[in-house]
Amino acid sequence: MNVCEYIPGLENIPAARSSISYVDGQEGILEYRGIRIEELAEKGSFLETAYLLIWGELPTKSELEIFEMDIRYHRRIKYRIRDMMKCFPETGHPMDALQTSAAALGLFYARRALDNPDYIRKAVVRLLAKIPTMVAASHQMRRGNDPIQPNDNLDYAANFLYMMTERKPDPLEARIFDVCLTLHAEHTMNASTFSAMVTASTLTDPYAVVASAVGTLAGPLHGGANEEVLRMLEEIGSVENVRPYIENCIVNKHKIMGFGHRVYKVKDPRANILQSLAEQLFEKTGHDEYYAIALEVEKVVEEKLGHKGIYANVDFYSGLVYRKLGIPSDLFTPLFAIARVAGWLAHWKEQLAVNRIFRPTQVYIGEHNMPYIPIEKRAMSQRNGH
Ligand code: CMC
Repeated sequence: MNVCEYIPGLENIPAARSSISYVDGQEGILEYRGIRIEELAEKGSFLETAYLLIWGELPTKSELEIFEMDIRYHRRIKYRIRDMMKCFPETGHPMDALQTSAAALGLFYARRALDNPDYIRKAVVRLLAKIPTMVAASHQMRRGNDPIQPNDNLDYAANFLYMMTERKPDPLEARIFDVCLTLHAEHTMNASTFSAMVTASTLTDPYAVVASAVGTLAGPLHGGANEEVLRMLEEIGSVENVRPYIENCIVNKHKIMGFGHRVYKVKDPRANILQSLAEQLFEKTGHDEYYAIALEVEKVVEEKLGHKGIYANVDFYSGLVYRKLGIPSDLFTPLFAIARVAGWLAHWKEQLAVNRIFRPTQVYIGEHNMPYIPIEKRAMSQRNGH
C-alpha cells in the first residue's frame, strides 16, 4: 500500500464520491444535484430542496405535498424530550442543547433498520420535522416559557418563526427565512458533513449521525462564525472604526469572521443572495445600524486580503438577516443546523449505499521502546503544559 503524505486539514483529499452538491471556488458556483443555488433560492422552497438533496431529484407536486404533510404531522416532540430539555441550564449554548436533544431522539425511536427504506424515510421526516421544534422549544424554555406548539396551518419556515414569537410572520419574512434555509442546506465535504459521514459509516442510528454533525458545526471556524460576525460588528461600532479594526486584525493575525473559505477564492455566491435578502428586509422594515459597518468591512477586507482570495462567505450577511427577523444571535448557528440536516441526511443515505467504515491512518511521530518509570522516580515536570 502507498504511504501518502500527511496533509493538514485533509485539504483537497477526497473523502467520498458524491453527486449531491458541487462547488467551483474559482467561479463562485454552487449547485445542488446540478441545479444552481441562485435558481433554487429564487424558485424553490426549502423542503423541495431537502427532497432534491436526499432523494436525488425534484419532487412531483404530489410527492412534495405528501412529504410536507408528513413533516407537518411529525413536528411535535414527546413530552419526555421536552421535560429533559427543561433541565438544561438557561445559560447553556443552544447548540449544546440541540446536540443533546438530537441525540435523545435515538432513545425514543430506537429501532435501527438501515436496509429498510421505510425506516430511512421516517428518520428523514422526523429529523427535518423535529429539529426546528427543539430549537424553538429550548429557546422558549430558557426564557422560562412553555414551548409554543407547532401550528399545522403554517408551512415549514413560517411555523418556525411562529414557534419563536407566537405570532404569524409576515409572508416576506417567512419567504426570506425559507430562502436562508435553502442556502444553508448543503455544501459538499465540509467539517460537519465529514463528521456525519464518519459517524454514519459505523452504521449507527441517524440521530447519532445528526448529533455528531451538530457538535462539529458549533465551532467558530465552521457554523459558529455567523454569531461571531455580529459580535465583531458590535465591537467595531462605527464605520470610522472599520479600517483600524481590520488593520489591527491583520497585523495580529486574527481571523476576520465571515471571511475566507477553504474552497471559494471569490465571494461566496450565498453571500451575494443573503446580502440582497438583507436589503429587501431593510427596505420593508427599516434600516439596520450594522449594515453600513458591514459594507465597509467587506470593502476594506477585499482591499487588504482580496489578493489572497479572501472574500465574504455565507456567514457574513446571514446574521444581519436573522437579526432583522428578531432572532437572537446565539440561535444563528442552530438555524444553520436546521437547514444543514437536509445535507447531512443526503450524505448519510449516500454513505449507506456504498458503505465502508472510515478508518484512516496517521503518521506516528512519537517515541518507541520507552522505559516504564515507577511513579516515585518520576521527576516533576520538564513536561510542558502538564
Ligand atoms: N481573516 C484573515 N485572514 C484569513 C482569514 C480571515 N477570515 N481566512 C483565512 N485567512 C488567511 C490566513 O491567515 C492564512 O494566511 P497566511 O497564508 O498568510 O498564513 C491564509 O488566509 C489561509 O488561511 P487558512 O486558515 O489556512 O485557510 P483554511 O482553508 O484552513 O480556513 C476558514 C478556512 C474558513 C476556516 C478560514 O478562512 C477562517 O477561519 N475564516 C473565519 C471563520 C469563518 O468565517 N468561518 C466560516 C466558514 S464558511 C461557512 C462554514 O464552513 O461554516
